[in-house]
Amino acid sequence: MSEERTQEPVHLPRIGDPAPGFEAPSSQGTIRLDDFKGKWVVLFSHPSDFTPVCTTEFVEFARRAPEFQGMGAQLVGLSVDSVYSHIAWIRNIEEKFEVEVTFPVIADLSTDVSRKYGMIHAGEADTATVRAVFLIDPEQRIRALLYYPMSAGRAVSEIQRLLQALQLNAAHGLATPQGWTPGEACIVPPPATQAEASDRLKRQDLELTDWYLARTPAPE
Ligand code: BEZ
Repeated sequence: MSEERTQEPVHLPRIGDPAPGFEAPSSQGTIRLDDFKGKWVVLFSHPSDFTPVCTTEFVEFARRAPEFQGMGAQLVGLSVDSVYSHIAWIRNIEEKFEVEVTFPVIADLSTDVSRKYGMIHAGEADTATVRAVFLIDPEQRIRALLYYPMSAGRAVSEIQRLLQALQLNAAHGLATPQGWTPGEACIVPPPATQAEASDRLKRQDLELTDWYLARTPAPE
């Protein structure tokens, strides 16, 4: 009689939720979310090794890995492929694109991690992960999530920009306008009361459009 494996229920974490913990095999041995406490984590899934769009994304993640590291962030990849497949693909990428893949890639054959993070969307595929990205803060809370379909590659520069905006908010409580890039003016959160709105209009240190829209230079 075959024994049925109990599977994690599919779960879609939301912004502000504690990031679901995991222990999983990867291209760099067993890793746990706990290993990265105190750092930002960029956990991203791809549909499959040795596929063209995924390869272009991986090359860019690998090229920018030192910049993510400089921002105190750990990249962690994931797909429903084996460790051997990951090793072979990483070796191929390193040879063809002359870039080192320095981050671990989870081999989620059990789909345990994918299910905890809602990375498998049956409308796209039953057994492969979509292009999901979770930005997890140093206290291991979800701060942002992105989902892309299999057909559209992500812009790693946008993921990096989002991380910069989240780090600015965590450090200074400021928000960021459309298309913001580091060094540009930031948005001061809007007043919460009529009195605060009146006070806001008297501020000389802000670039005021109106009581609800005020910008301040980027902090040093
Ligand atoms: C790709 O990475 O090229 C790809 C993967 C799954 C479906 C379509 C494209």
